[in-house]
Amino acid sequence: MPSASKATTNADLVARSLASVWHPCTQMKHHERFPLVPVTHGEGVWLVDAEGNRYLDAVSSWWVNLFGHANPRINAALKDQLDRIEHAMLAGFTHQPAIELSERLGNLTGLGHAFYGSDGASAVEIALKMSFHFWRNAGLTSKQKFVSLEGSYHGETIGALAVTDVAIFRDAYGPLLNNNLRVPFPGDNVDAALSALETLLAARHQEIAALIVEPLVQGASGMRMYPPRYLTQARELCRRHQVHLIADEIMTGFGRTGTMFAGEQAGVRPDFICLSKGITGGYLPLSCVLTTDDIYRQFYDDDVTRGFLHSHSYTGSALACRAALATLDIFRDDDVITRNRDRAERCSRRAEAIRLHPRVSGFRHLGMIWAFEVSPAKPGFAREFFAASLKRGVLLRPIGNTVYFMPPYVISDDEFDLLVTQTLAVIDEVTAA
Ligand SMILES: Cc1ncc(COP(=O)(O)O)c(C=O)c1O
Repeated sequence: MPSASKATTNADLVARSLASVWHPCTQMKHHERFPLVPVTHGEGVWLVDAEGNRYLDAVSSWWVNLFGHANPRINAALKDQLDRIEHAMLAGFTHQPAIELSERLGNLTGLGHAFYGSDGASAVEIALKMSFHFWRNAGLTSKQKFVSLEGSYHGETIGALAVTDVAIFRDAYGPLLNNNLRVPFPGDNVDAALSALETLLAARHQEIAALIVEPLVQGASGMRMYPPRYLTQARELCRRHQVHLIADEIMTGFGRTGTMFAGEQAGVRPDFICLSKGITGGYLPLSCVLTTDDIYRQFYDDDVTRGFLHSHSYTGSALACRAALATLDIFRDDDVITRNRDRAERCSRRAEAIRLHPRVSGFRHLGMIWAFEVSPAKPGFAREFFAASLKRGVLLRPIGNTVYFMPPYVISDDEFDLLVTQTLAVIDEVTAA
């Protein structure tokens, strides 16, 4: 059995990990050249390895961490919860953390009937199934397709991948995926994108259950941002054509775009909202789908098969819900959304040298996200950039040639300055002839 008392040098942990762990989103052979980083602890924005090397977590550990690693307030809540109940099945049972979290998420989103999953992808599966099942219960059985935007990313399970449009994740599994529909990304031409959406919905609404979007920013396809106007009008088009709108706020939710949820900037209330990632402050896997009373009522019946019979074993884990409650407490007690506005402004000023760098283009910013392209980008740019930044004590994980900062909200001005300085050095290093 693994034991904490075994030797914990970096080399030892790396060798054991490579022999026993199949790491996510990785061609394992690349680790012949690119070393794994064995993390032994964390503190604020820092991850620390077995030999005391520190890495500034500028991507919030895949966009989940909001208030730093080993946050004392979330730790305290979890320790308290551990002595009460860690987890009890949520079918036929309930508990205070799930109830309170559902009430608070309901108040924050204007939706309700919180249905829990574990990871982001499971929330997407839940929303897709609920939408389809709603129409089926309503007698509209031909509504079986989903529409997503070009460049969309909604997760990697089979259903979520079928509404994802990122070739590197999708192509190998193409034969397994339902044939859904794509509409143009509202990048340069919002009106053209809206008109394409309108044309599709008008022609095929009888076949379409829902439109699923990442509100305001597509994360995994390279932090592609678009104006709120698209979302506002897409909401209206969906309403007009009897198509659900699913807001996948898994990445954008919990303050990342400057408001608690990105949809707020477009004045949009979706039919379903998918939440995960930051929901527990980056502590434990938890996801949640909230929906409207009308949709909920369509499932409420004497007939069991009209009910939503989906489940995951860890649905509504008490520990995870408690971490989420502690995270929401921090938002409330520290007035995080307001304070992040000043913080983001200070960070943007500090990032000015990056924006002006001759190798940088497309510099953009929204809330606590900054992104830009670096050129020239040789093949393997993202891995080279990742490795070069690690050597400088910074964790950055570009998408293609898009480099982005998505730090925990507790990053200090000095830490952000360090991030900028080291990033500039890495840009020079990896673009040198
Ligand atoms: C917008 C969006 N949806 C869904 C997911 C999938 O979440 P998970 O990786 O937790 O399954 C992600 C993950 O990056 C995401 O960014």
